[in-house]
Amino acid sequence: MQETRHRVLDALAAGPASGPALADELDISRAAVWKHVEALREEGFEIESVDDGYELTRVPEFGGTAVEYGLDAPFEIDSHDSIPSTNARARDLAADGAEDVVVLADEQTGGRGRLDREWTSPSGGIWLSVLCRPDVPMAHAPVFTLAAAVAVTRAAREAGVDARIKWPNDVVVDGRKLVGILTEMEGEADRVSWVVVGMGINANVDPDSLPTDADPTSLRHERGDPIDRRVFTQRVLEAFHDLRSDIDSVLPAWREHATTLGQRVRVETADGPVEGEAVDIRFPGALVVDTDDGEVTVTAGDCDHLRPV
Ligand code: BTN
Repeated sequence: MQETRHRVLDALAAGPASGPALADELDISRAAVWKHVEALREEGFEIESVDDGYELTRVPEFGGTAVEYGLDAPFEIDSHDSIPSTNARARDLAADGAEDVVVLADEQTGGRGRLDREWTSPSGGIWLSVLCRPDVPMAHAPVFTLAAAVAVTRAAREAGVDARIKWPNDVVVDGRKLVGILTEMEGEADRVSWVVVGMGINANVDPDSLPTDADPTSLRHERGDPIDRRVFTQRVLEAFHDLRSDIDSVLPAWREHATTLGQRVRVETADGPVEGEAVDIRFPGALVVDTDDGEVTVTAGDCDHLRPV
């Protein structure tokens, strides 16, 4: 059903077409064509009835079918207007055996952040979770968080926003937080069963409506006008897919966009604070800090950029 709907959409994208011509081309009945056209209209596609038949005149700003339309990456979209948490939904889908699904929402009512924090997710954002099953050991999974940070940073920079990556997994603009990433996974030591990479992208939201502790910003705020969420989401998913298909490309791309490297940092780790100059990132995502006592590699922690001394 869903697949036929996509084929109807693709046929309409090529130009106006009559009901009988579409029925012939797709090998379905005219009644089925009409049903799919109606369903697409309900999803917000504007399809006008013209002399030649049907004409696609507008694609909706957001939503599952809209994002799938023209998406150059092999993800199925599971879209929601409002949902507690896209990560929680993706975990449920993982338990059902799903793969390469992106859970997408306009609003989350129970969004989750790192370290058990809440993640405020009003309507207008891009709240999404990518569920995939890479054939890698558990220890390599952090590289998918890095890939997500690179993917969103690329898309934001293409959209004219000076986004950079702050270790471990924030995307910031002038130090203000634009995107947070929460990765969850399950598996045995030698093999990941699934990874859910959740991205909270402050897209068309007002930073004043978000908690101030993270010093938030948004794409709309930085650009001065709203972002096309459909196209932005497509660019993120396409970049993420390219990166996950070529894992060796992730670290060089991360270094290129990092704001943390070369800065004095203080990382609060489970073993206490580590302070010094952040000098490199090491696979699958550890930060190398040059301290007074030599180089220290930290794998996790909250990172503050300090003023140079
Ligand atoms: C952070 O604390 O910086 C990470 C925030 C991650 C938020 C995203 S929004 C989409 C996905 N669903 C969730 O519940 N959380 C992640």
